[in-house]
Amino acid sequence: MRNPQKDQQTKQAYCLGIESTADDFGVGICSFDGDILANKSDGYIPTEGGIHPREAARHHAEVADKVLNHALTAAKVKPSDLSVIAFSQGPGLGPCLRTGATVARALASYLDIPLVGINHSVAHIEIGKLKTGAQDPVTLYASGGNTMVTAFDSGRYRVFGETLDIALGNCLDVFAREAGLKHKKGFPLGAAVEKLALEGKRLVSLPYVVKGMDLSLSGLLTAATALLYKGDFRLEDLCYSLQEHAFSMVTEVTERALAHTEKREVLLTGGVAANKRLQQMLAVIAQEHDASFHVVPLEFATDNGAMIAWTGVLAYKHGLQTPVDESFVRLRWRVDKVDVPWIS
Ligand code: ATP
Ligand code: FE2
Repeated sequence: MRNPQKDQQTKQAYCLGIESTADDFGVGICSFDGDILANKSDGYIPTEGGIHPREAARHHAEVADKVLNHALTAAKVKPSDLSVIAFSQGPGLGPCLRTGATVARALASYLDIPLVGINHSVAHIEIGKLKTGAQDPVTLYASGGNTMVTAFDSGRYRVFGETLDIALGNCLDVFAREAGLKHKKGFPLGAAVEKLALEGKRLVSLPYVVKGMDLSLSGLLTAATALLYKGDFRLEDLCYSLQEHAFSMVTEVTERALAHTEKREVLLTGGVAANKRLQQMLAVIAQEHDASFHVVPLEFATDNGAMIAWTGVLAYKHGLQTPVDESFVRLRWRVDKVDVPWIS
């Protein structure tokens, strides 16, 4: 059995992280001082419609071996060099999470090293901090399954505002699918909406719903989709208007959290962080509040194994381990239920 104290002293300690909350199966390898040595993944693209959890899980089981080998080869690390295995324990889709957890348990028990279950949302924030240098930001985490504004306070990332229904990425994805756009490898539906929005000239009025610190996107999606079917507006104008309304809502909530917490940094993370228009809106409010603005690099914005590996390092170095009999997946594990003892 590895000795955690000894691992923390040596530079040759590595964590392998497994990500499998939704459509991607990812493996990252990270040294204990934060060097990302490998970040490999294989994504499941549904033939039509949204993600089918069991189909995605089957995909993950099929590619796990290949992605693990790619990561170990890229990192030039032998399995016996690993000190700890981290995995996405939740939140996410049950069958997908269970596949990743099974691989993680098997690896940890075969190598006789500890296992650490990681909260996927915490990992999106931590990789953003590692890669941008932000220390104590107000974070907008916006992806296909999550939209929340968080900031650290008293031992946890607290949620200052969030979507009351669908996530920002999901809103863009569903609209794109209704418009007949296709998800291609390396070109997600949100990126397709972004591209068309650049050609938008007319701002069409749509529902704008911010309730206190929370927001709602389902009415916006329904209204935009209804206009799409009516056919009175160009698709480019609808994409532009959808983005302007949705991004203004999340920016308003982020700005309020920034004013309330008086933090000096804004961090944008999650798959939707790739969007230039959203980046632009957040940069403006950060500047108005004298805060610096940080965007996680694209490779680490979408779901990836490296973020799980790095958060695994942070957790393990602070004494956290997950015994196998407590390694059940947590489908609705909220970010504000997770202690983060590595932040003082
Ligand atoms: P989570 O489990 O964190 O909710 P996820 O499975 O949705 O994650 P991510 O990879 O974090 O995965 O985010 C994917 C989302 O990001 C999709 O909704 C996708 O359309 C969106 N996205 C990707 N690129 C862009 C872009 N350029 N503009 C807007 N949205 C984008
Ligand atoms: Fe994610």
